[in-house]
Amino acid sequence: MEELKAEINTDNLPRHIAVIMDGNGRWAKQHGKPRVFGHQSGVKAVRETTEAAAELGIEYLTLYAFSTENWNRPKFEVNALMALLVETIRKEVKTLNKNNIRLAAIGDLDKLPGKSQKALQKAIEDTAGNDRMTLVLALNYSAKWEIMNAVKSLAKEVEAGKLNADELDETDFADALATKGMPDPELLIRTSGETRISNFLLWQIAYSELYFTPTFWPDFRKDDLYKAILDYQNRERRFGKISEQLSKG
Ligand code: IPE
Ligand code: IPE
Ligand code: MG
Repeated sequence: MEELKAEINTDNLPRHIAVIMDGNGRWAKQHGKPRVFGHQSGVKAVRETTEAAAELGIEYLTLYAFSTENWNRPKFEVNALMALLVETIRKEVKTLNKNNIRLAAIGDLDKLPGKSQKALQKAIEDTAGNDRMTLVLALNYSAKWEIMNAVKSLAKEVEAGKLNADELDETDFADALATKGMPDPELLIRTSGETRISNFLLWQIAYSELYFTPTFWPDFRKDDLYKAILDYQNRERRFGKISEQLSKG
């Protein structure tokens, strides 16, 4: 574990890592257990990943915890996920404070059950003073929802004469997104072997490095994060240029 960590170049860390935590249900099935057991087992992976990211000096870690599409799951599973969310958030505040980690959330939070909203709000307030890393939970999140929201808010400002439509730029748009103020993720990880984005951070991942691993989320540990970061560090981020134009360190 320490060997892999030692290989990481701390001068070339992503500032922001986003994770699509997937595979809880299949993990549970593999163990002959109900799907909800998979979600419960995923909490350990959240803890480990958060701790490892903070220890490395990552500034933002965004975890996709519940998509707007996930409401279409069986009611029993949705309820269990919401209950797990409240329970986990309440339990983890102490550790977040101990580790100097601030909690934030992106998504259509007003549509979450009242209990979840309250627990989330309280945890956000209770960790607001922490500044080692920001842990962002994407809850009732979808990128298309976020983009539509941004379009509506910008349209209103144009209507009100506060902005000029012809002068709108990428910064105006980025500032209208839920991720306002955060750097775009340099690295996006998806577990469970699925190689799709599932409506996550579409604008923000325009130039992210994508990393897919077959590991199911409940099995994801610090070493898996280190492997993803090492893979990222071996890539050449050209941003449209050619290799020879990039200054070699
Ligand atoms: C990810 O695991 C957790 C959520 C989407 C809430 P899944 O529940 O999607 O697990 P699989 O993909 O069915 O295995
Ligand atoms: C994506 O996982 C959403 C979260 C991880 C919260 P899903 O399991 O819902 O995605 P699909 O349905 O396989 O695309
Ligand atoms: Mg899934």
